[in-house]
Amino acid sequence: MNESSFEEMARLVKDLMGIDVDRPPRMREATRFVRGYSGPDRETGAVNTPIYQTATFAHPGYDQSTGFGYSRYGNPTRLELENTVALLEGGQKAWAFASGMAAISTTLKLFKPGDHVLVGDDLYGGTYRLMSSYYAPFGIEFEYVDATDLACVKRSLRPNTKALFIETPTNPMMKVADIAALSALIKEVHGLLIVDNTFLTPYFQKPFDFGADIVIHSGTKYLGGHNDIMSGFIVIKDRELVEPIFMLAMSEGGMLPPFDSWLTLRSIKTLGVRLDRQQESAFKIVDFLKAHDKIERVYYVGDPEHPDYGISRRQTTGSGAMVSFDIKRSDEVPSFLEHLELILFAESLGGVESLMTFPLMQTHGAIPPEIRERLGITDRLLRLSVGLEDADDLIEDLDRALG
Ligand SMILES: Cc1ncc(COP(=O)(O)O)c(C=O)c1O
Repeated sequence: MNESSFEEMARLVKDLMGIDVDRPPRMREATRFVRGYSGPDRETGAVNTPIYQTATFAHPGYDQSTGFGYSRYGNPTRLELENTVALLEGGQKAWAFASGMAAISTTLKLFKPGDHVLVGDDLYGGTYRLMSSYYAPFGIEFEYVDATDLACVKRSLRPNTKALFIETPTNPMMKVADIAALSALIKEVHGLLIVDNTFLTPYFQKPFDFGADIVIHSGTKYLGGHNDIMSGFIVIKDRELVEPIFMLAMSEGGMLPPFDSWLTLRSIKTLGVRLDRQQESAFKIVDFLKAHDKIERVYYVGDPEHPDYGISRRQTTGSGAMVSFDIKRSDEVPSFLEHLELILFAESLGGVESLMTFPLMQTHGAIPPEIRERLGITDRLLRLSVGLEDADDLIEDLDRALG
């Protein structure tokens, strides 16, 4: 197989050009999550996609292919996962990577020295670090803007602006960006809108419906859902991006292994029920926190008092289960973290176990102090990922730790 020619690869690699959007039977949302893209294996009837634990594939003959040649280009278990994620997001094609950062890194390689990329300023610290410390020195100019301020985004556009990269809701301040309005702005300079959809997942938010071009996931979070697998995804809306992303992905090789692909497929089946329940608990916890005299402020996009509640309602079908809050006194933060018994003091989010994160010292340690201060990432801010434990147990734990 000639690895340098995309046309050649396209002839021999199964589903390289993306999913057949008409192929799966019409299903309601909840059913799609459970049944995935292909359903039972056609040859064996296996209800679940098998784990194809193989590095390479035998060819039937000269210049012939089963559609699989080598697991870096494509693996049947990973392909089913990729097709399922593409289907759920309403995109044409997805690629599964070994982590969210691997997916983001591959996406950033679409840009060249001299390109200008706008980035929503409130975002995961690792993404900021990758952009500013590793890609900026190669000549890509990243400019951090408040993506909730459309006038500011418009003012920042330049003829060489190639993309706008955002999280919505943002991590950790839970600000909501207007995806449709930002899409219209970036299209003025023919740039791409890239949305990190980790916090809400396609169960609650479908950025392609509002004009996004690329959707990113840290699948380590809700898609994996059990704090046990790492994964990442790039999903694209249009087929024009298939060639550059496929050539990058298969050349670099940061792809998700078969067993982790299978575990992620298994997890996605329960994504809807997990998120419904986690969200229900998040609402109860928000009510508790808002009424507590040691809490200054609560940031939750489902709270009608949240400044971006209106936009949130327009572009999502749910609010998720991520809640940030300010404790009134910063000197009480260490004792609060030490006295949590059920909620685990740990980095990450989206799993069945509830996790408490101190963004200043953990997820957002890589963000320069002056930016953190401006955004509100202070020594009083905590971020809670609400898991699947009984909400009353979580509330009792918070109450005890707050003292
Ligand atoms: C919003 C968001 N995007 C991307 C990432 C990076 O994903 P990973 O940790 O899977 O590499 C994270 C990690 O916390 C995240 O919170």
